[in-house]
Amino acid sequence: MLYDAVIFDLDGTLTDSKEGILTCTRYALDKMNWPVPDEETLQKFLGPPLVDSFMRYCGMTEEQGRTGLDYYREMYQPGGWKMNAVYPGIRELLKELKKRGAYVAVATGKPQKNSERIVEYFGLSPFIDALAGPGEDEAHADKKDLIARVLPEGKKAIMIGDTAGDVKGGIDAGIDTMAAEWGYGSNADMAALRPTLTAKDPREAAELLCPGYKAPKGAFLTFEGVDGCGKTTQMKLCAERLTSMGYTVVTTREPGGCPLSEQIRGMLLSKEDNGMCAETEALLFAGARAQHIHDVILPAVEAGKIVLCDRFIDSSMVYQGAARGLGYDWVRLINRAARETCAPDRTFYIRMSHDEALRRRGAASQLDRIERAGETFFSETEKAYERLCREEPGRILSIDGNGTIGEVQQRVFAAVLNEIDR
Ligand code: TYD
Repeated sequence: MLYDAVIFDLDGTLTDSKEGILTCTRYALDKMNWPVPDEETLQKFLGPPLVDSFMRYCGMTEEQGRTGLDYYREMYQPGGWKMNAVYPGIRELLKELKKRGAYVAVATGKPQKNSERIVEYFGLSPFIDALAGPGEDEAHADKKDLIARVLPEGKKAIMIGDTAGDVKGGIDAGIDTMAAEWGYGSNADMAALRPTLTAKDPREAAELLCPGYKAPKGAFLTFEGVDGCGKTTQMKLCAERLTSMGYTVVTTREPGGCPLSEQIRGMLLSKEDNGMCAETEALLFAGARAQHIHDVILPAVEAGKIVLCDRFIDSSMVYQGAARGLGYDWVRLINRAARETCAPDRTFYIRMSHDEALRRRGAASQLDRIERAGETFFSETEKAYERLCREEPGRILSIDGNGTIGEVQQRVFAAVLNEIDR
């Protein structure tokens, strides 16, 4: 490790808060019936204290600027602050720094309380030892002072930020600096101050700070459950939340997930009876899977992404092996290559009785081939899932799917995060 203390700026360095800041700024200007400046000028609101920007770029007096700030907060405080996302690669960088024993802190111009809330909500707090931002009674704090508040004694430290203000703050505080070119600040302005290091993205920052750094491999997580259990909705919500936390997420589904397999899906889930026998059905599911693994899943996991897949081999075990009566052994055999090259790291079974799932689905107007299979078939799928859970408790996590979408999401997301955030 080149440094044993690493201090980060927040907005534009750890998180991309642009959408939230600009939306709340436009809201404040609308409330004041003040003309909204062009996009280029609006961009300048990212970084400096808001009252200053209202005065500088909108020609307000200080008092008007403060009114603008009040309106801004009216939208920002209840929920606007959540329009934010951790930059891809930042989580991995923070994790690596902690693994190597570094002290990690944040020095930000954003009020301390708001910053703490953001760091907590986006799951960064486990990596951060200290955070300094202006207190409630402080209108503005100098970057150099903020850095001094978190700078430990006797450690070789570096300040990482996306604006010239961050680089200057680090230089004034007497420590090394890194220009983070992925944020909002002007790269030319930072370069003019001659920062010690410059990185174009968080991954390059990790390579510079941690010699020998290798980006971690991704993960392959699958979601299973009876038709109508809500797993598709739950998986999508997890994907949104993980993306906002800085993970690179790929969501995909079976049968399908890539052009060729989507064509096979068309045959499998045809609305018309195409006379397909159970063996053909099982082989087509396995065929679509082989292509999906080759085209989508393995390349994404290799590239360090988190793959969330709506159904996988377990569905074949349950639907074709048990419900269609082809037997587990045969289904295992035709999926052997997939099982050997692409076993899920974890499977989340969204547990719900077939009766309840049926009630939720309501009367679907046009059923597909599989949905037409009838009552006994579907009660078989429920039993078969329960059996798989008993057989493989290490890989399959059974999660109660009953309750509101929000309640179930809390359970599912906690389980998913526990799996990938180790
Ligand atoms: P889909 O419309 O995606 O349903 P769901 O939202 O419930 O996942 O259709 C997928 C259907 O295909 C579903 O009824 C389960 C079935 N299926 C199998 O029978 N075997 C398999 O291997 C897979 C992946 C799905």
